Amino acid sequence: MEYVNSFPEGFLWGAATSAYQCEGAAAEDGKKDNQQDVINREIHDEYGYADASVASDHYHHYKEDVALMAEMGFTSYRFSINWARVLPDGVGEPNPKGVEFYHNLIDELRAHGIEPVVTMWHYDLPMALVNKYGGWASRQIIDDFAYYARFILTEYGSKVKYWLTINEQSIVVNYIDRKNKISMEDKFNPKFRYQANHYMNLAHAKAAILVHELVPGGQCGAALDMAPYYPHTCAPADVMAAKNANAFKNYFYMDAYIRGEYTESVMAYLKRQGLDFEILPGDMELIKKGSECFDFLGINYYQSGCVKAPTPGASRRSKENNKIGKGGHVTYEVQPDLFEGCKNENIGETDFSMPIDPMGLQYVLEDINDRYHIPMMICENGFGAYDVLEKDGSIHDPYRIAYIRAHLKAMKNAIANGVKLIAYNPWSAFDLLSTSNGIAKRYGFIYVDRTDDDVKECKRYRKDSFYWYKNVIATNGKNLE
Ligand code: BG6
Repeated sequence: MEYVNSFPEGFLWGAATSAYQCEGAAAEDGKKDNQQDVINREIHDEYGYADASVASDHYHHYKEDVALMAEMGFTSYRFSINWARVLPDGVGEPNPKGVEFYHNLIDELRAHGIEPVVTMWHYDLPMALVNKYGGWASRQIIDDFAYYARFILTEYGSKVKYWLTINEQSIVVNYIDRKNKISMEDKFNPKFRYQANHYMNLAHAKAAILVHELVPGGQCGAALDMAPYYPHTCAPADVMAAKNANAFKNYFYMDAYIRGEYTESVMAYLKRQGLDFEILPGDMELIKKGSECFDFLGINYYQSGCVKAPTPGASRRSKENNKIGKGGHVTYEVQPDLFEGCKNENIGETDFSMPIDPMGLQYVLEDINDRYHIPMMICENGFGAYDVLEKDGSIHDPYRIAYIRAHLKAMKNAIANGVKLIAYNPWSAFDLLSTSNGIAKRYGFIYVDRTDDDVKECKRYRKDSFYWYKNVIATNGKNLE
């Protein structure tokens, strides 16, 4: 059922990327290593996937990329700042060339009428801080994050209205995988993760307060990965497991950002599991103050989840991404005594085992609006696939068009039901490194000609979805055909 056929006046249309996944120039112009440079070198050695040294070479192609975005009619672009490019040691001396790069990028966007939406941290902590005290493992990160936030807000605040502090905090806390983004340790130490989560909430709160202090008219948010959890059956124990999963994976993070408090059932569970964390006097006051500066929620929506009652005695297990790009290779999450992930037989999946569920997007948008009454921005949504560059330079990606079309319809329904949506920034503007599958798994509207083994010249090509999305934008989402 489709209720309305329009997006609001002034709705922002664009796409998203993150710094380490697209910039390249990883050791150029004064930039030092960040955690993702190191992790992606390891992934390259182990799986043969491309590392972050060249990525999509956006650092050298940014003008061309912005021109292509403008050709599609973009009015917004979500990207992240590479902390170690502007502050190579995390704090202290800035790197003039790195600072200049983001001025140039923002100016280029503004010159084309594109609103920048800037993420402060998208998984790439400077290695200097990781080596010094373990990154998110230490309380020191809160002040250092605030130092970095103050620096970039002072530098770019007059040109950027929309700021996102942290990308996908719940994923960082819950996934262990090869892309362990909290520390360099390879082991799953759940207790440590919830302490780090608390530090992230404090760092986020400080940065949110700074956005309001330093940016006139500034709007602060954070982008969360948002999957609604469905019960496998209507057996009460499965329904309870779904309730638990939604609280544990979703509300626990939103409650902290938006209400400035921790979800009671999750805190009780963590305590029972011996995973409770240290909260010092003043911490909750800071988190509360941060929540008063939280203006919009960024939604990264790819898929829904399905859970059932946990098997008694099952031990804790994190979900692991499908690394080989053949359906069925996925490990489901287990949280003992809380829920156990499983396959949803009612919906299809991509080759990388991502369930495809457009209605799930309508569900989360309406659920969040009913619960928190907060404006939202789609900060990611997209279809990762093996695209083929034809001899004539065309790329036929009907699967991506079908996916995005279905999600736009779901957004229209949510808007009709009262959801205040600011923008649609799907993943990704152009092809870039996947967090788990190198460059082979592509999401972009713009094809970047390189492979995992051969960086070639990273020449840009327009995919079929490029032309389709251009028409969607030109009609403010009225024409999705
Ligand atoms: C989101 C991340 O989780 O999903 C992005 O914010 C990521 O950084 C995207 O690239 C798609 O996931 P993947 O693993 O296919 O790259």
